Amino acid sequence: MQKNWWKEKVAYQIYPKSFYDTDGNGVGDLRGIIDKLDYLKELGVDIIWISPCYCSPFADQGYDISDYYNIDPVFGDMADMEELLVEAKKRDMYILMDLVVNHCSDEHEWFQKALADPTGKYGKYFYIEECPDGKLPCNWRSYFGGPVWERIPGTDYYYFHAFHKKQPDLNWENPQVRREIYKMMNWWLDKGLAGFRIDAIINIKKVLPFKDYPADRADGLCSIQHMLEEAEGVQDFLQEMADQTFRPHAAFTVGEVFDAKEEELPEFIGEHGCFSSMFDFDPTIYDATECGWYARKGITPEEFKECCFASQAKYSKYGFLSNIIENHDEPRGVSRYIPEGECDERSKKLLATVSLILRGLPFIYQGQEIGMENLEFQSIDEINDINTLDEYQVALDAGLSPEDALHSVNRFSRDNARTPVQWDDSPNAGFTQGTPWLRVNPNYKTINVAEQLQREDSLWHHYRKLIALRKDPSYAETIVYGDLKPIWEEKKNLMAFYRKSKEQTLLVVANYQKEPQSVTLEQVYKKVVLNNYVNLNTKDSELCLEGYQAVILEM
Ligand code: GLC
Repeated sequence: MQKNWWKEKVAYQIYPKSFYDTDGNGVGDLRGIIDKLDYLKELGVDIIWISPCYCSPFADQGYDISDYYNIDPVFGDMADMEELLVEAKKRDMYILMDLVVNHCSDEHEWFQKALADPTGKYGKYFYIEECPDGKLPCNWRSYFGGPVWERIPGTDYYYFHAFHKKQPDLNWENPQVRREIYKMMNWWLDKGLAGFRIDAIINIKKVLPFKDYPADRADGLCSIQHMLEEAEGVQDFLQEMADQTFRPHAAFTVGEVFDAKEEELPEFIGEHGCFSSMFDFDPTIYDATECGWYARKGITPEEFKECCFASQAKYSKYGFLSNIIENHDEPRGVSRYIPEGECDERSKKLLATVSLILRGLPFIYQGQEIGMENLEFQSIDEINDINTLDEYQVALDAGLSPEDALHSVNRFSRDNARTPVQWDDSPNAGFTQGTPWLRVNPNYKTINVAEQLQREDSLWHHYRKLIALRKDPSYAETIVYGDLKPIWEEKKNLMAFYRKSKEQTLLVVANYQKEPQSVTLEQVYKKVVLNNYVNLNTKDSELCLEGYQAVILEM
């Protein structure tokens, strides 16, 4: 395994709208990130990925960019960004921005010019087709509902959007578009960014000419999935992008890559891959169905374990994964991967232990370090996210009552992870002096950063210890570069694995249930490296684990 500086680090995702508001407008800002750099440093974070903060009309919360070269005033200005880069550097921290180049906003200048002249230069920046008889070029369903085609008012032209209609797809087949994008990326890298998290990248390659696939729902449309499975050649674009931008800057990049074919993994994350790393989404899509969120059945601890081990086996041959339990598109990890009614600090520490000691680069999502949980939205009016609003409609169309539809989308809503960070127990969880843009989870009185910082046995301190372990010269080689080998896989609700380097073997044993459970060790251990309980009960070579006990042993 090749050694790289970034593999030894720990990354943290900031969703700026909900991180920390310093100007009282109810929305987090760049100054808020600067203010909290020392907090993140204390936790042990090195790499910070900031979700989009460019100018945007926020139809999809900034993933619809109207100006790639500026900061949206709601977050501050370019001087704040430059200061953030300087302040991060002072602390040996690295900033990644979100690279959203499958699409831009319909309010971007390019699209405005395309609207004015659909067959002109800028029309060719997008996918625009003439449909005089109203028959759409294909029957694909956009990710946020409805057809991927939207009519340009007053014309017979339609433009393509894989996501929301305010997110027209850029035409990557057009070399001029690619050049514009690389120019913009280099401009940011020259400013001092360490790299990018790359959004929805698999979508840049379309199967052309557009054609129908069999419909998979009553709306007569089909999931874009079918097209993605058939599409070939995304690597031609990505290798060109890497040559023109990342490689000359030695940038770190992590791809949001769904649906990659196994044979393509070397090209994504191998030694000559286009990206440094990519996220492991296998546990997050485990129960996905073509029907929609309402039909998802969730994931059990056993299934979570199987997924993690399968990913480790599949990807580790080719490269270095980035591991998450949540992000801004997913429900909170503790609410998802811990069975209902059993979510407490103990089980949260177990989840932290198993996910941070897996092989790969850990990405912690804001608030994860204090165990922020899903918010039970009381009414659909409290939901802001367009994806959730669409899935609510899908559930209603499938015949669910409004209460059941709300309940079903509550479990998966992207707004679960977007509620403001709970800093302390003052009004609005200390997130803002104004009115927060999204409801604060009322459990902030008990779950907040200030409380956990001053309590040595809190989840926050558990995360801090896990991160410190990864960087501790006595363990780093094993935790970062060592092999991973599952053990006792057949034991139900037990997630256990070895991490092995030449010199050392660590064993992680996690009893993923509330009942106690015992295992017999293959050899005696030298030392308990980390434990989420005060004691560890052993009888000869038998380990008797309490409910949700998770330990790391040096063998
Ligand atoms: C990615 C982002 C998500 C966004 C979508 C469209 O999946 O993570 O938040 O809605 O791309 O840009």
